[in-house]
Amino acid sequence: MEEMTMKNPIVRMFHVHKRYGAKKALVDITLDIGFNEWIFVTGPSGAGKSTLLRLMYRGESVSEGQILVDGANLLRVTSRQVPMLRRKFGVIFQDFKLIPTKTAYENVSLVLEVAGEKPAMIRKKVNSVLRNAGMEDKMNNYPPSLSGGEQQRVAVARAIVGDPKIILADEPTGSLDSKSAGIIMDLLKGFHARGATIVIATHDKELIESTTHRIIHLDNGRVDETDPNVVNL
Ligand SMILES: Nc1ncnc2c1ncn2[C@@H]1O[C@H](COP(=O)(O)OP(=O)(O)OP(=O)(O)O)[C@@H](O)[C@H]1O
Ligand SMILES: [Mg+2]
Repeated sequence: MEEMTMKNPIVRMFHVHKRYGAKKALVDITLDIGFNEWIFVTGPSGAGKSTLLRLMYRGESVSEGQILVDGANLLRVTSRQVPMLRRKFGVIFQDFKLIPTKTAYENVSLVLEVAGEKPAMIRKKVNSVLRNAGMEDKMNNYPPSLSGGEQQRVAVARAIVGDPKIILADEPTGSLDSKSAGIIMDLLKGFHARGATIVIATHDKELIESTTHRIIHLDNGRVDETDPNVVNL
């Protein structure tokens, strides 16, 4: 499938394995993700979707194999360089991971404060991204007082506010009503249109049913090789 070989990948995985003790969470994954691609990772619960995403931003290290992100080999990224690597990513976690003692606004602004942005710019960007997420009325709420859909929208705002190159979204529409899911997908579409790469782990059939984007099927830690969407190197 020469025509499917990717000329300009932002993430490259070569024979990646991930083991937790005896459990093989990922087995021999070789995969390219292109600059500005939108890709779905699907498969049953326990297939390894979240693990695949975690390895990309070095939330965890591989057991075997290599991962290149934007040209950098993750095995050679030192712990001091990890914050710089992480800034390339906006991560939307399956369980949101919002800080409960900080307001919605503060959860989002923290990203820019850590990156050393100027206060005036921080206010402008955070207000804008929360407005786009439909959260302008609840910016001063603490996460425990927000619904699941609202928390998810704050998590998306936090993921995109730093203008990362890559969005990793783990079940971004999991257990949301279709209105909240629609708002979240529109935010991601807008961000993709401005040049970001989007990786979405999901088993939401509705999301992938009618998509024109590439879908990677994981099963038991392996990519389904019969899948015509798999890019062979
Ligand atoms: N920290 C860990 N320690 C031990 N086993 C783990 C750990 N994280 C994941 N696993 C195991 O690795 C496998 C893949 O887990 P993973 O969370 O990646 O699946 P998933 O496809 O995201 O599932 P779901 O759809 O339920 O979110 C599972 O069998 C899981 O139990
Ligand atoms: Mg998962």
